[in-house]
Amino acid sequence: MRIIIFGPQGSGKGTQAELIARRHNLPYVSTGDIFRYHTKNETELGVKVSQYLSQGELVPEDLTNQVVKSRLDQPDCVTGFVLDGYPRNRKQLDFLNSIFKIDFAIVIELSDDEAVKRLSGRLACKCGLSYHLEYNPPVKADLCDKCGSELFRRDDDQPEAIKKRLAIYHTETEPLFAEFEREDIFYRVDGSRSIDQVYQQIEKVISSNKK
Ligand code: AP5
Ligand code: MG
Repeated sequence: MRIIIFGPQGSGKGTQAELIARRHNLPYVSTGDIFRYHTKNETELGVKVSQYLSQGELVPEDLTNQVVKSRLDQPDCVTGFVLDGYPRNRKQLDFLNSIFKIDFAIVIELSDDEAVKRLSGRLACKCGLSYHLEYNPPVKADLCDKCGSELFRRDDDQPEAIKKRLAIYHTETEPLFAEFEREDIFYRVDGSRSIDQVYQQIEKVISSNKK
C-alpha cells in the first residue's frame, strides 16, 4: 500500500504518517527528516540543502528526486510506504508518477492560523517524532518518549520561514490535488480535531477504500 500524506505545515503530517506506518507495518518516509539528518551530520548533501531548509524554501528538484528515489528503492519499501513531504510541486509529481503508482493521497486540512499555533509550540526529535508543549507533551520534559534524545526547536519554525513554507504549499502543492482527484484516490480529513480523531478519520479512509 503506497500512501502520501499532504497538508500545510504543522497540520500533523509527520505525527499521523508515523502512526499509520506503525499500524500497517510500512516504512515512514519523510523528505524533511532525511534532509534534517544530512544537515545535522554535515554530509555533502546536508551542506548543499541546509540553507534551503532554514529559510523555508524548497530544495532543488534534482537533489530531492534523487533522495526520494534512493529511499523508495530500498527493500523495505517493496510492500509500500507512507510518504510525507513529497511531492511538493509539478516536477516532483511527474517524477513520482514515472517511478510509482500511488494508492492513497490524503490531505490533512488545517487553517494557516491554526498551523502557525501548532508550529510555535512544537518540539522535534532527531528520530522524526514531533511533540507539542500543550497538545502532545513528552512524558519527561524535553526528552523523546521513544528514543530518549533531547528535543529541540526546528530552525524553520520561525515566523518568516513559516510564512514562506505555507505560501509554497498553497501555490505549488495544492494545485497537484486535482490530479489525484481525477484518479479517484484523493481524500480530505479534518486536521483541526485531536491527534487521535484525525488518526481515526485516516484509518477509516484506508479501510473503506482499500482495493
Ligand atoms: P518538512 O519537514 O516536511 O516540514 P513541513 O512541510 O514544513 O511540515 P512540518 O513538519 O512543519 O509539519 P507537519 O505537518 O509534519 O506537522 P507535525 O506532525 O510535526 O520539510 C522541511 C523542509 O525540508 C522544507 O521546508 C524544505 O526546505 C525541505 N523539503 C522537504 N520536502 C521537500 C520536497 N519534497 N521538496 C523540496 N524541499 C523539501 O505537527 C506539528 C505540531 O502540531 C507538533 O507539535 C504536533 O505535536 C502538533 N500536532 C499534530 N497534530 C495535532 C493535532 N491533531 N492536534 C494538536 N496538535 C497536533
Ligand atoms: Mg513534518
